[in-house]
Amino acid sequence: MIPKTKKQKTNFKNVELSDIEKIVSIEADCHISPWSKRNFLDSKSAGNLFQVLKDDELIIGYYIACFAADECELLNITVCKHLHRQGFGKAIISYLINNCLERKTSNLFLEVRRSNKNAILLYEQKGFNEVGIRPNYYKTSNGNEDAILMALSL
Ligand SMILES: CC(C)(COP(=O)(O)OP(=O)(O)OC[C@H]1O[C@@H](n2cnc3c(N)ncnc32)[C@H](O)[C@@H]1OP(=O)(O)O)[C@@H](O)C(=O)NCCC(=O)NCCS
Repeated sequence: MIPKTKKQKTNFKNVELSDIEKIVSIEADCHISPWSKRNFLDSKSAGNLFQVLKDDELIIGYYIACFAADECELLNITVCKHLHRQGFGKAIISYLINNCLERKTSNLFLEVRRSNKNAILLYEQKGFNEVGIRPNYYKTSNGNEDAILMALSL
């Protein structure tokens, strides 16, 4: 657990190439189908908003968002496993929402596995609503599961 005084020193920074190895390892630890190093590098060079929440040089979490016209799609959000449930996920979403408001974005979209109840609770808490389903979109260890499409109107 990060002590409160340390939490106050956290801040968001644009990702640097030197962050990628650590991000790949956090990703592998946290996701059923983790992004590869190539996925992260491609996402960075595609010009997506790719930011890291840091405590000094320690990576707490990261997010990647793609802006097009007046819409934004959250492509990845991850918090280090040992730091879950300390409000960092909420902090990342709030930060992205503020960024969207500054850019006059109308809608923020995302996709989530139906089984990812913790993430769905987080998104609902931040005002997202379910707007669609992609049946059997994601692979699981023994089959497939739906993707839930969620949107926040800004
Ligand atoms: C989803 C994720 C980003 C949430 O980050 P987090 O820092 O743990 O989330 P927070 O501490 O800000 O919690 C926010 C809310 O989410 C819900 N939540 C998160 N973890 C939960 C848990 N283990 N049990 C129940 N609710 C949970 C709660 O509603 C919580 O609010 P509360 O603490 O006021 O009750 C994090 O769990 C994660 O990185 N998971 C792995 C990657 C992933 O699934 N990404 C999303 C892909 S769509």
